[in-house]
Amino acid sequence: MKPVLEVAGLCCRLGSRTVLRNIGFSLGEGQAVALVGANGAGKSTLLWAILGLLPSDGEVRIFGRPRSRDGLARLGVVFQNPEDQLFMPSLEQDLTLPLLNRGEAPGPAREKALEALEAVGLAGYAGTPAQRLSLGQRKRAAIASVLVSSPSLLILDEPTAELDPRSVRQLTALLNRLPVARLIASHHLEFLQATTTRALLLSEGAIAADGPSGSVLGDEGLLAGAGLI
Ligand SMILES: Nc1ncnc2c1ncn2[C@@H]1O[C@H](COP(=O)(O)OP(=O)(O)OP(=O)(O)O)[C@@H](O)[C@H]1O
Ligand SMILES: [Mg+2]
Repeated sequence: MKPVLEVAGLCCRLGSRTVLRNIGFSLGEGQAVALVGANGAGKSTLLWAILGLLPSDGEVRIFGRPRSRDGLARLGVVFQNPEDQLFMPSLEQDLTLPLLNRGEAPGPAREKALEALEAVGLAGYAGTPAQRLSLGQRKRAAIASVLVSSPSLLILDEPTAELDPRSVRQLTALLNRLPVARLIASHHLEFLQATTTRALLLSEGAIAADGPSGSVLGDEGLLAGAGLI
């Protein structure tokens, strides 16, 4: 299996606190991996460090090469806060912008945008600005805004945080239809069981377990030890 993401010896200090301790794992093509841990365990920090948005020590390789602009351009990242990525006067413009920037014609770009909105249950909202959506709708729009570029690796931070049960079910089905590799940070155990095959358990900034989702997410002792339940 070709490596999509390789992390070795990753450490991160923020102020006087060590937030990530010697993190190492690799993720192969098409793999669906959960990054699970209690509030403050370091999930978001790890994602930010992988993306080079926070200073860290250690090695991060993306698609077999040291992290670069080209490698990062093939990632689809949905941050915990959807406001970070939707800011145009309409969702259609938010979604077509990256496609137009990479030289696609407006017609096909628009078609892809409408398709992605439909896939997340937001058909009919193409002309609406993100600020006029509910938080859960905005989260779904942020997911559509990365799917539209057909990323090779999807990184999602707390994708279900504001979603109602039906939206969670729809997102689960959507993710399970995608053949793309993905790393999903969340503490929503049921959702992770349904969308991933492998789980990394993060506890106080270190990996406490790495194994099949069924075993890691079902091990109450392990989850209690990590402060998750
Ligand atoms: N800028 C910062 N300076 C100092 N410490 C920080 C900073 N940002 C985050 N931290 C600390 O890093 C730790 C990990 O935070 P992080 O946001 O990665 O946790 P998380 O696992 O994503 O939690 P959640 O489930 O609440 O999203 C926390 O203890 C937090 O206080
Ligand atoms: Mg977080």
